[in-house]
This record gives sequence, structure tokens and C-alpha cells, in this order.
Amino acid sequence: MRELEDMSRDGIPVTSSAELAGRTGFTSEQIRKDLAYFGAFGTRGVGYDTSALALQIRRILGLERGVKYALVGAGNLGTALARYAQARIHDVVVGAIFDSDPQKVGQVVAELVVQPVDDLAASCRRLGLKVGVIAVPAEAARSVLEALDAGGCQAVLNFAPVKLSRPPMHVQNLDLTLELESITYYTGARLVRPRSGVEA
Ligand code: NAI
Repeated sequence: MRELEDMSRDGIPVTSSAELAGRTGFTSEQIRKDLAYFGAFGTRGVGYDTSALALQIRRILGLERGVKYALVGAGNLGTALARYAQARIHDVVVGAIFDSDPQKVGQVVAELVVQPVDDLAASCRRLGLKVGVIAVPAEAARSVLEALDAGGCQAVLNFAPVKLSRPPMHVQNLDLTLELESITYYTGARLVRPRSGVEA
């Protein structure tokens, strides 16, 4: 969607799955397959209309009506996320912020008053928030997920370093510590060779 929007802005009216593949790193087969899953968007021999396809994908993602999410944890990460989102992201925005610390409740972060986490489920229901972002310590993450579930949230992005799941909710775990640790592989740590006789 981003590539298509860029192309449309740059005055490129039509594109192909091959060109999209080159710009996104997916294969053209994958792009055709994914799009076919949602309908017939291109014209054989012509390609895809960039702005029309971007709009269709925006609709598929539910972004054209704007998405508001519940942000739980108004600490370092939560505050940074809220401020970043307020300044840079316009289609997925913070709808309400929650924290358990009485010192933080009532403070204003990114133009929103921090709410007590005890109100999380009720507020999600009242505000119709279907997406949650967890930015609390690992030990508190599971109970926050349960409250988001009770509030009717269907999709959650979890930043706490603990793997959460709660079907049928869609939970995406984003463990930055793990990412940083695994990236050290590319610094030379991989030069450790398997001992002879041990299959690689
Ligand atoms: P922090 O300690 O600054 O903030 C955590 C906030 O969560 C505090 O305001 C605390 O009062 C609140 N909290 C604790 N229990 C709660 C509960 N049950 N309900 C609602 N709020 C609750 O910590 P920080 O740095 O913001 O990190 C938050 C999470 O994100 C941690 O799990 C951390 O490992 C993870 N993380 C942090 C990164 C960072 O750069 N700060 C990067 C990646 C992950």
C-alpha cells in the first residue's frame, strides 16, 4: 500500500506485479496470489491502477475509516509510541492510554489523559477500541491482554518480552530485545564452526 501510494504521488498511474515485487521484496507470484485472495484488481495486459489499488488495500486493512487503539503502559516506551504516533501516523492513532500507576493516571500524554487500567475493558467497549498495544512490564502483560480481550479487542501488538497468545485474538509479539540479540549473529559470532562429526 505504501509503495502504491508513493507511486501514485510520483505520477505513476499503472504498475505490474513484477514492478511491485521489485519495490517490496516479495515475489510477483506472491503479490498476484495475495491480491487474488481479495478480488480481481488488475487488468490483463495493462496492470494495476496504482491509486485505485492503494485505496482497495486501505479498505481491506480497514484503514480508510481510521483505527484507534488502546495503549496500555504510559512509561518510556508507551509515551514514546504515543508521541510518535500522534506526530507521524494518521490512520492508526491512539484512542486512549492506560496505566496502573496512580502518579501517571490523570497526566496528559500526546493530548490524552492517562486512564486507570482498571477501566481498560469498560473503556475499550465504550470507545469501540478493537486494537490494543501492550507496553507494560512482562509480568503485567498477561493480565492486560485478558482485560483487552474482555473489552472486545481483537488484535494486539505486544512489546513486553513475553510471548502472549489468546485465540481467537490476533496477538503479534514484538520482542525488540530478542531482535537485538539475534542480530549479533551478523557481527561474526557465526564464525563458530560445528565440531567435526556433528552435522550442521
Ligand atoms: P516503564 O517501566 O518505563 O513503563 C511501564 C509502564 O507500565 C509504567 O508506567 C507502569 O506504571 C505501567 N504498568 C505496570 N503494570 C501495569 C499494569 N498492570 N497495567 C497498566 N500499566 C502498568 O517501561 P518501558 O521502558 O516503557 O517498557 C515497557 C515494556 O516494553 C517492557 O515490557 C519492556 O521490556 C518493553 N520494551 C521497552 C523498550 C524501551 O525502549 N523502553 C523497548 C522494547 C520493549
